[in-house]
Amino acid sequence: MTEKFVVTGGAGYIGSHVCVELASAGHDVLVIDDFSNSHPEAVRRIQEITGVDISLLEVDLANPANLPKVIESVGAFDATGAVHLAGLKAVGESVEQPARYYDVNINAALTLLRALENAGAKKLVFSSSATVYGDLNESPVNETGATGAANPYGRSKLFIEEILKDIATADKDWRIANLRYFNPVGAHSSGRIGEDPNGVPNNLFPFIAQVAVGKRDKLRIFGDDYPTRDGTGVRDYIHVVDLARGHVAALDYLAETKQGGAIDINLGTGGGVSVKEAVAAFKRASNRDIPFEIAPRREGDIAEIYADTSLAKDLLNWRATKTLDDMCADHWHWQRNNPNGFKS
Ligand code: UD1
Repeated sequence: MTEKFVVTGGAGYIGSHVCVELASAGHDVLVIDDFSNSHPEAVRRIQEITGVDISLLEVDLANPANLPKVIESVGAFDATGAVHLAGLKAVGESVEQPARYYDVNINAALTLLRALENAGAKKLVFSSSATVYGDLNESPVNETGATGAANPYGRSKLFIEEILKDIATADKDWRIANLRYFNPVGAHSSGRIGEDPNGVPNNLFPFIAQVAVGKRDKLRIFGDDYPTRDGTGVRDYIHVVDLARGHVAALDYLAETKQGGAIDINLGTGGGVSVKEAVAAFKRASNRDIPFEIAPRREGDIAEIYADTSLAKDLLNWRATKTLDDMCADHWHWQRNNPNGFKS
């Protein structure tokens, strides 16, 4: 059945891939984005890939003055639900500017909630993060694991999860999935959309990709003395297209379930990859040299985390299908064709 989904942050890295999968599954999409950390070209390319028209509302969701406009547009679109990805996401910046992070991330979520409530569209997928598990659990970590994020960015995710649970408890019509992403990497196989970070990338894959394409001299590996198989940090990297399909599966589940409420669901592959293994795989995929040096540990980093994915399998009938080599090949394809991201 065709449904109408609002995708906030729909021009961003994960959001653009979610839009492609939703449009390809036959759904109508309204992107809400202020392009503060994304590019309108991404929306054009979603349409190019899918051949489907995407509606767009360019607005800062976090500014309460925009509430009437958002309510109006979501109502006029006749939304049946939403995927909420809009927000600030730089860990280091969140430590320096906590008030701004809480203000933007929490107000954006509340504005969207009011607009959905007004439209009677009480179905929501929230873009949460494995960062909510902090350093408190043995891997594989499942959704009952202890939570306690290590920085304001992570805590804003956790607080929004809690707000959504309160809302779903108070009004049984709400159906909400908090998707806890592990580490999304890769790009659409067309090479037309992908991650386009501002400035120096914080995350591993965009950094490696910029070294491979010659934009940066070398990778700094943050620590090789962790208690892992080769001493470098281990993470659960997941192809962004698999992740995006997890959103479609979650919305299908929310459409069918009789049970109101808010549920937490991990989206990962269930396996761990070390920094050195990621570098070796990217080298194979790109056929480029990836020079690196060992640097001190990064503050706040943990040794190892990967997902228990059984809940997503059982509930959503979803699992990640793409390999580490697929992730590297697609990430490289995007990077090589768009060395300056959407500006090229
Ligand atoms: C980071 C964030 C996390 C966020 C996630 C989004 C921190 C402390 N955590 O997680 O809150 O949800 O990104 O994807 O920033 N590495 C290097 N050199 C680099 C970059 C990374 O060695 O230049 C290593 C890291 O030490 C880590 C691994 O690569 O072991 C992955 O790092 P990254 O991509 O930043 O992801 P996370 O640390 O898992």
